[in-house]
Amino acid sequence: MLLPDPHIIADSAQIAAGLKHPELKQALYDEGAVIMADTLLTLHGERHRKRRILEFGVFRKDFFHWYEQTVFPATLTRSMTGDVAAGRTELVDLGYRVTMNLTADFAGIDRPAQSTSETAELLRLVEIFSQGATIIHSTRPKDEVREEVRAAIADFEPRFLAPSVARRRELLAQHAAGKITDADLPRDVLTVILQKGDPEEFTPEVLTREIGFYLQAGAHSTANSTIHAFHDIYTWAEQDPARKERLREDRVFFQRCVHESLRLHPASPVAWREAMCPIHLDGAGDVATGDTIEFRLAEANRDKTLFGEDADIFNPERVVSLPTLPFGHTFGTGVHTCLGRDLDGGVVPRGNVDPETHQYGTITLFLRDLFARGARQDTDALPQRATNTERPNWGHYPVIFNKEHAWA
Ligand code: HEM
Repeated sequence: MLLPDPHIIADSAQIAAGLKHPELKQALYDEGAVIMADTLLTLHGERHRKRRILEFGVFRKDFFHWYEQTVFPATLTRSMTGDVAAGRTELVDLGYRVTMNLTADFAGIDRPAQSTSETAELLRLVEIFSQGATIIHSTRPKDEVREEVRAAIADFEPRFLAPSVARRRELLAQHAAGKITDADLPRDVLTVILQKGDPEEFTPEVLTREIGFYLQAGAHSTANSTIHAFHDIYTWAEQDPARKERLREDRVFFQRCVHESLRLHPASPVAWREAMCPIHLDGAGDVATGDTIEFRLAEANRDKTLFGEDADIFNPERVVSLPTLPFGHTFGTGVHTCLGRDLDGGVVPRGNVDPETHQYGTITLFLRDLFARGARQDTDALPQRATNTERPNWGHYPVIFNKEHAWA
C-alpha cells in the first residue's frame, strides 16, 4: 500500500497542539496489525485512555527512583562483567543487551537463565516484532515479514511469555489469599494486566502483542539513543579537559548533556496521525477524514527560534526555556507521550536539585558508568554508521576501557 501524501507539520507549538487533537488517531501501524493490533500505541479515544491508566501504574516516579537505585545498577553490572574483564566492548551490542533487560523488566518478561545467550534470543525475537511493526516501510514482501512475525510469536509465547504469566498468576493467587503483600508482587506491565486487566479485552493474542509491543518500544530507542549520547558527549569532552572534569563532578550537568543529545537524535523522527473526521489544524489547514498528518519531531527539535542559531550542534550549555523541553519532542507529546520518558531521561531539573536524590534516568546512569570505567573510542577500530537502516544510527562502536581515564 502506498501512503497518501501527508499534511506536514514541523512547527514545535503546532506539533504540541496537533498531537493533542482528539480526532487524530495513530496511523502507520495498520499494516503491521500482526504484532501491533490493539496495543496501547494503536488504540484511540476511550479504549486508549482506559488502557493507559491501567498500565501507567508501572511507570510512576517513585518506582523509577527505586529501579534506578537498586535494580538497574545490578542489571548493568551483570550485563557488563564480561566486557569489563576483556577491557573492551562494542557499544551497539552492549547497548542492546542492557536495554533489552531493562525493557523486559518493565514489560514483565522473566529471563531465568540470566545469560547472554538468553538475552540474545529475546533480542532476536523482538527484532522480528519490530520489523512487523514497521512493515509499512519494509522493502521486503510484506507477507513474508508477517510469516516471520507469526513464527517469532509462536516461539516467544511458550518460551518467554507463558512461564512469566504462570509465575505471576501463582504470586497473584498467593496475594489474593493474603499470603503475600503488594510489595512482594513484581512491578511490571504483565502483572498489572493479569491482576487488573479485563480478561475479555486481554485475550491471549492481545496479551502477547501488548507485551511484545512493550519489548520493542523500549529496546531500540533506548539503545540507539545511548550510543548517540556516548558519541556526542565523548566528542565534546575530548576538546577540553575542563569538560571532562565537569562531567565527572556534576551529575545533573551530565544529564543535561544526555538531554541535548536526545534532542538531536530522536529515535522516532516523525509521528503520524490520521483524521477521524474533517478538522482544522494550525499548520495544516483543513484536513479531510482519512487524511494523514506527518508531525516532524526531529525537524522541530532543531528549530533555531527555540534552540538558537547553533541548534544543529551539540551544545549542552544552551539555555532552553519552558514550555520547550531540553529534549524537544523526542518522547512525543499528547495522549501517546512515551511512558518510558522519565525512566530513560529522568526528571528534568527545575532550578537547583539535590544531586543525591535527583532521578537521572537510565541513559545517564549507563553512560556515567561507562565514563567512570574509562571508556574510550578504540582508535584502531573507528565507529561505523549502521547500513541496515536509513536512520543515521551507529552500527558498530568499539570502545576500550582505559584504566588511566577511569574515575577513581
Ligand atoms: C530514548 C528512548 C525512547 C524514546 C526516544 C521513545 C520515544 C517514544 C515516542 C516518540 C512515543 C510516541 C509515539 C507517537 O506519538 O506516535 C513513544 C511512545 C511510547 N513509549 Fe517510548 N521511547 C523511548 C523509550 C521507551 C521505554 C524504555 C519504554 C518502556 C519501558 C517506552 C514505552 C513507550 C510506550 C508504552 C509508548 C506508547 C504510549 C501510548 O501510546 O500511550 N518507551 N515513545
